[in-house]
Amino acid sequence: MATIVGGVGSTHVPAIGKAIAEKKHNDPYWKPFFKGFDYVHYWLARTRPDVAVVFYNDHGLNFFLDKMPTFAVGAANEYRSEDEGWGIPVSRPIPGDAALSWHLINALVADEFDVTMCQEMLIDHAVTIPMALMWPGPVWPIKIVPVEINTVQHPLPSLERCLKLGRSIGRAIESYEQDLRVVVIGTGGLSHQLDGARAGFINKEFDLLCLDKIVAEPEALTRYSIHDWVKESGSQGVEFLNWMAMRGAMTGRVSELNRNYHIPISNTAAATVVYENQKEVARKAA
Ligand code: DHB
Ligand code: FE
Repeated sequence: MATIVGGVGSTHVPAIGKAIAEKKHNDPYWKPFFKGFDYVHYWLARTRPDVAVVFYNDHGLNFFLDKMPTFAVGAANEYRSEDEGWGIPVSRPIPGDAALSWHLINALVADEFDVTMCQEMLIDHAVTIPMALMWPGPVWPIKIVPVEINTVQHPLPSLERCLKLGRSIGRAIESYEQDLRVVVIGTGGLSHQLDGARAGFINKEFDLLCLDKIVAEPEALTRYSIHDWVKESGSQGVEFLNWMAMRGAMTGRVSELNRNYHIPISNTAAATVVYENQKEVARKAA
């Protein structure tokens, strides 16, 4: 059976792609951020996942405002990226695990999550930047299943809905008959706002509350409405929905193995975390 080796949360700020291309890892601005990935690399070398289920939000490369699914799951054997205009190199293609995708899609629909299934899907910086951070070598030794959550066009799904989506996927992963080692990843956040009167808004106090609560009692965060979240975390801080889904895919209790919180990276509060399941605890029902 497949096992979930753990969960990783990572920001996906495009400027990171430029810093990687220009090898700025030891530059004073970037060093405290990149250092946060030393533990991630150590942990990935130890846990050796075969597949990453990546919860992320598309920013207009694959979906646009005219047609916007709330939840979309990739079901392809390869995912390409394209130039989004950020001035960063276009990422190499990433292999997919279509068989696992279809297993997850079947389980989600059976659980009443009526997802959009995508046999072709372009993936943007919200997938490629965390991949480049987690596996900095010339080859990505992993396949992915991208799970896209709308954080762009309101109405957005609630924090609770995303936690439940993650739980459904977590159960489905653990019922998959192949002996795969799976890491679940949530990308984006934490607090940030890219436009409007509050452009540049960051809320450290709220971010640290979220980083504590998501480990010990993620349900406590579901009392925030999306509008509360925008108020506390900025209009793009809602990317935390991806983190909630990642957390949901873990069992009821997790251990935080590592945390790095650094502000700012570009306009964003950048957090990097690694979680592992506490094995003895039974999985939560939906
Ligand atoms: C930035 C952050 C994002 O989440 C994003 O998608 C694009 C840009 C930023 O802080 O620059
Ligand atoms: Fe983003």
